[in-house]
Amino acid sequence: MHEAALPQLHRFDQCIQKSSFVNLPVLWWKAIAGNRRGSPAADGGMAWDLLPPITRWIVGWPLCWLYPALHHQNVAIRTVFLDRALNETLSLMEGSTAVVVLGAGFDSRSLRLLPERARGEGKRGQDLTFFELDLPEVVDQKQRVLDQRVYRRRPSLAASDRHPRLIAADLNSNTSLDHALREALGSCCARQVVFLCEAVLLYLRPPGRSVEVLQQCLAAGQAAPGVERVAFVFADRLPAVAEKDRGVPLGFDENVTSSGRCHEYGSVTGIGPHAGGNTASRDAPDRRGGFGRTEGGGTGLSAGPRHAATEAAPWASAHCEEERARRFWASLSPGLVLTQWQQKPGLACHMGVAVDHHKWGSEGEVPPV
Ligand SMILES: C[S@@+](CC[C@H](N)C(=O)[O-])C[C@H]1O[C@@H](n2cnc3c(N)ncnc32)[C@H](O)[C@@H]1O
Repeated sequence: MHEAALPQLHRFDQCIQKSSFVNLPVLWWKAIAGNRRGSPAADGGMAWDLLPPITRWIVGWPLCWLYPALHHQNVAIRTVFLDRALNETLSLMEGSTAVVVLGAGFDSRSLRLLPERARGEGKRGQDLTFFELDLPEVVDQKQRVLDQRVYRRRPSLAASDRHPRLIAADLNSNTSLDHALREALGSCCARQVVFLCEAVLLYLRPPGRSVEVLQQCLAAGQAAPGVERVAFVFADRLPAVAEKDRGVPLGFDENVTSSGRCHEYGSVTGIGPHAGGNTASRDAPDRRGGFGRTEGGGTGLSAGPRHAATEAAPWASAHCEEERARRFWASLSPGLVLTQWQQKPGLACHMGVAVDHHKWGSEGEVPPV
């Protein structure tokens, strides 16, 4: 339905002209979930403040309660998980920390977290910087949204320590990602780097690219001057980790189903099991970046070939997804330890935290398992 609705909702929008890999539907779903006061995903209307003035009322309070718990509920599961996992990860870190968000789209987590830190909430003395990477056209649109909407609706966020730094990058290109990582990590003097992946790895091409991206991020984090620890917080689809009956791993257009054998869905988030509605089939990524296609749930499919690179991956033979995920992270670096793990319906079905344990353990701290 959103395929037809989105062009109308953004018809007179001066800031956002088009969706890129469903980041616009995701924003509307986050606004619905975020406006549900009292729910675990309530965000004080932050996502709502990114939406166009004329049409956003349709997901305002109390209308937000009218929408059936389908796509937005699925997106809410990962939002709640990531908020909590990121906060826990940050709380175990000392000193300045850089959060690098891959494929940030129109996400507003940084806008919620940075003011909290600026007010002195969270870890004391922790200097936090958010770098948000996305395609150039997305970065341009988000910058307009921030300047023309968010900073006007919430003037206190205009202070430079309260908003993210946007960096244009094509994650499918080594060179582009390299430049972006240098720009982020070369300027911030961080002691720790947290890479945050929310429903982006699954859109990267060619098949297997996500492995290279994570390797590149890890290497850049470890090589950055002064950086002692690197962690990954993710709600995404890890390559060659999903159960066979969910279809092909990351990056391959094929039907997928969700079954989550190792864990119950939603038990960590408190949003409840099986949220997200119909998980029997999922859309393939929208390569054209139009307004349409689903990602949080729903129907509509396209099929494509499996790829030998990840089918033959050494971690792919493990007996369950959690074990495959554990081995996957360890395959990137022996020190990378999966410290949190949770599954959910939808394409971005793997949620967790992986920490560079060698560095982390140097002061005797052990991240939560
Ligand atoms: C499903 S959206 C998720 C957005 C955001 N992480 C969230 O959950 O709200 C996927 C995002 O990945 C970005 N993306 C896809 N391919 C990309 C690439 N090659 N380089 C950079 N960003 C990319 C899209 O532009 C889009 O913003």
